[in-house]
Formats: sequence, C-alpha cells, structure tokens
Amino acid sequence: MNIYFAPLEGITGYIFRNAFNEIYGHIDKFFAPFISPSEKCPLTPREMKDLTPENNHGINLIPQILTCRSEHFIEAAIELKKIGYNEINLNLGCPSGTVCAKGKGAGFLPQTTDLQKFLDDIYAYSESEGTKISIKTRLGYYSPEEFYDLAEIFNGYPVSELIVHPRIRGDFYKGEPRKEFFAYALEHVKCPLVYNGDIRTLKGYDELCASFNTKLDPVMIGRGLISDPLLADKLGGSDAGSDPERFRLFHDTLYHEYQKVMSPDINVLYKMKELWSYWAVMFEDNSRDIKKLLKTKKCAEYEDIVYSKLLLK
Ligand SMILES: Cc1cc2nc3c(=O)[nH]c(=O)nc-3n(C[C@H](O)[C@H](O)[C@H](O)COP(=O)(O)O)c2cc1C
Repeated sequence: MNIYFAPLEGITGYIFRNAFNEIYGHIDKFFAPFISPSEKCPLTPREMKDLTPENNHGINLIPQILTCRSEHFIEAAIELKKIGYNEINLNLGCPSGTVCAKGKGAGFLPQTTDLQKFLDDIYAYSESEGTKISIKTRLGYYSPEEFYDLAEIFNGYPVSELIVHPRIRGDFYKGEPRKEFFAYALEHVKCPLVYNGDIRTLKGYDELCASFNTKLDPVMIGRGLISDPLLADKLGGSDAGSDPERFRLFHDTLYHEYQKVMSPDINVLYKMKELWSYWAVMFEDNSRDIKKLLKTKKCAEYEDIVYSKLLLK
C-alpha cells in the first residue's frame, strides 16, 4: 500500500525526512512543508536548502506551495522545475490565522470565484509544462457543506491527486474527522483521492476502511507516523514489534544532525522537545522524565535525561 508522509511545518524538514527514510523507510511520498512565494522571491535560500535534491537523496519529495496568487505559484513552480520537480502540491488547508487572513490555505476556500481563476491559471501552466499539480484541502472554511461546491470545482481540473483532510478551518487539528464528508468525496470526486487525518494505529486504519467499506490506499499520515515511526511498516503488513535500538538510532541521528546546523543549545532542544511531545505516548511510564526533559535548557541536561532514563542501551 502507498503511504504518504504529511507535511508538518517545523518538523518534517530535510533532516527529519532523511533520518526517517534511512532508518524506517516505507514512505512512498514525502510532502514538504509549505513554501510561501512572494512578489520578489519565489523561494527563499532556506526553502531552497530544504528542497534541493542534494539534501533529499532517495526521497520521493513533493514540494508544497501556499499562495492565492497564480503568478506566484507559477514562478515558484518554474524554479522547482529547474531543480527537477515535476509534481507540486497546493495547500488549501492551512488553518493558521495569519495565513487565512491573507486569503491563503483554508482561507482561500470560501473565495470560490477567485479560486477558480487561480486554478484556471495554474492548471493551464500544468498542462503546458507537464507538471502534475495535486491539492491538499479541508472540507471548507466555515462549514463542511462547502465541500459540495468545492468537489465540483476540483472536478473541473486535471488534479493529479486530491488529499482531503475532512475537517473545516475552525476544527484546526482537533475533534473527530468529519468522515461522512469523506464518504461524499469517495462518491463524487473524479480524480485520485487520498484520505488524511488521525490515522494512528493499524486498528484505527482498519476501522476507518471498514467505515467507508473500501480499502483506503494511498493514505497520508502525519502525527501518527511521528508518534509511531513503525506505523508505515505495520500498515504495510510487517509486524515490526517495538524496536528500541532503531528508535535510539533515529533519535541520535536527528539530534546530531540538528546540532550540526543549529546553535545555541536551546534551538536544538526546541526541535527535540517538539518531537518528544509526539514520542511521549511511547514512554507512558516515564511521564515525569519527559516533563523534566521538556524543561531542559542545555544539551548536557537533556542528554542526561535521555540516556539515563529514556533511551537505555
Ligand atoms: C505542527 C503542524 C504543522 C503542519 N504543517 C503543514 C504544512 O506545512 N502543510 C500542510 O499541508 N499541512 C500541514 N499540517 C497538517 C498536516 O499535514 C496534516 O494534514 C494534519 O496533521 C492531519 O493529519 P494527521 O492526523 O495524520 O497528522 C501541519 C500540522 C501540524 C500539526
């Protein structure tokens, strides 16, 4: 089965992707966190560093663009094509206040007339250049019923894949996904459809498939793969069991790679603590150690807790 790693801004950058791909694998596509092209600059040097093929060896990477201006999308797509990318994802789901206030991400969804003009332009570019464009969307901004019109709009374009996170903007990433609207998508969307949202276990995936009466494939997973890096293995049918040595290698690789490119300690620890907030579910018996770890300010203190309490040899 095909598993796509969801983009998580601040987490799934190139260092994370490389470590995950080498140590766990089983990911068919990694979606890069969004880039937000502007008037003067289709890609910042930092965004270029994250996307350059040199930093993404052996990874099937799909760059993602967040904008409501077709000329900015196309300029960025041209730059990305120069470095070898022939598939690009459009972000129509970001719920952040600052993003939506600018009419981008989920904030673009209610502007259906402008959205259609935008899609006319980018799909004209896509057809002329042979670049595939997929879309990652929510059901709507204010209400999930917006999805009825949105599905019809998307059906008017050669969308290479439509990834649906069945929530509305105000749901952010919480509450039950609105599955009945994904069921609607399964019936009415013409292009290949990808489910995204709250897949955390094999059992959860099986129940989700049963509720739709179909095997969901591909699926996109974000938080579930961070909390359980073996989830892709499990969904693919190999019962990997727990594997502390592999997890330690994953941790150490991330920690050392972040140390190489970041300083002072607090910046490295910020990255690692964000990961531990997901990994905590694997260490339920160590909740006090994790609490302490989340308060550390120096690498030495962090290492002391990690290697004496959490990742024992
Ligand atoms: C911290 C964080 C950062 C995210 N960054 C992005 C992003 O850059 N682009 C995007 O399309 N979605 C982004 N998302 C949404 C995820 O890709 C995904 O749709 C969401 O987490 C639901 O899937 P999951 O339950 O499998 O994690 C982000 C989510 C989180 C929690």
